Amino acid sequence: MMLWIMRISGFFSAATVMVVLSPSLQSFPPAEAIRSSNLDGYLRFPAGTHASGARDSFSFRQAPPFRNAEECGGLGDDSTVCDPSLVHIAITLDVDYLRGSIAAVHSILQHALCPENVFFHFLVSDTSLETLVRSAFPRLRFKVYYFDPERVRGLISSSVRQALEQPLNYARNYLADMLEPCVRRVIYLDSDLVVVDDVAKLWRTSLGSRTVGAPEYCHANFTKYFTERFWSDPRLAGTFAGRRPCYFNTGVMVIDLVRWRRFGYTRRIVRWMEVQKGGASAGWGGRIYELGSLPPFLLVFAGHVAPIEHRWNQHGLGGDNVKGSCRDLHPGPVSLLHWSGSGKPWVRLDSNRPCPLDALWAPYDLYGPASSL
Ligand SMILES: *[C@@H]1O[C@H](CO)[C@@H](O)[C@H](O)[C@H]1NC(C)=O
Repeated sequence: MMLWIMRISGFFSAATVMVVLSPSLQSFPPAEAIRSSNLDGYLRFPAGTHASGARDSFSFRQAPPFRNAEECGGLGDDSTVCDPSLVHIAITLDVDYLRGSIAAVHSILQHALCPENVFFHFLVSDTSLETLVRSAFPRLRFKVYYFDPERVRGLISSSVRQALEQPLNYARNYLADMLEPCVRRVIYLDSDLVVVDDVAKLWRTSLGSRTVGAPEYCHANFTKYFTERFWSDPRLAGTFAGRRPCYFNTGVMVIDLVRWRRFGYTRRIVRWMEVQKGGASAGWGGRIYELGSLPPFLLVFAGHVAPIEHRWNQHGLGGDNVKGSCRDLHPGPVSLLHWSGSGKPWVRLDSNRPCPLDALWAPYDLYGPASSL
């Protein structure tokens, strides 16, 4: 552990990361970590990759097989998505973030005590990506769901960063409709993160009577997530009356789908997106927020979220939305590292200008042909 941290990251505070990460990273195989940190053999994404041209040039190495520990109990080969012992995880797959999604899956399998009990629900707008997932994880339990971009086309509002305007970013709002009714709970995860702890612990979190669980950040200045317009119109700002709203990040959420369906939250979120789009023409006086898919979730759930330990979303590692500067970990233990913000570890590693903590993402990267090992 000590050895590989030192070797892959001579220039960052190894001591800090050691103290913070060592409890949750003990199962990390040191040999693989060292090997993967040698980036010379890695392919680059063609600049400005998009759609089918890029897809043809992707290739992923096959991940090693992951098997349940004995105490997991058996899950028959004939078990279906409705098996109650499954842990359900939803992630989007798209060409630009595919490398991140594959690394996220890899990290989850590697740290799970019962990896064969994890069922992945992949949301795609390009169904050909299924083949790539299968090539990286031959035995993975998963299902691919087609998310029609047209579903949200008229609802997306321009934002501070173009990546936030991708239709698939909005797919998380439709999970309750898309997944089978027998799936009662799901963990939604962004594509720019790795899990370094057993995801079953997050799965078992109690939500009490809440519908959504996520780490809350009550010291963040909540005001800034909405425009002055919003705050100055009592019909709008009044939505937070009687709540103590706190910021939470929608990249890691535990969702009770039964309650979500019962209370029709998809519709409530869509209604806020309509207010944002309707703007002046609808008599609401313009934009009510500047970010992408996040603010409607804050409007509906902030103050009503089941608080989850902060270790499950060490967010912001991508840096700020404008400059993409390097960020440090927040104090405390780490179970999930999240490169939210504009900088992505695969881009920075490929350009030989990584941030120190990007070295913690690299071991999960499966991108590149088998011969690059
Ligand atoms: C919070 O942000 C708003 C809007 O940017 C600003 O006007 C206000 O002064 C901030 N409050 C604090 C306590 O920093």
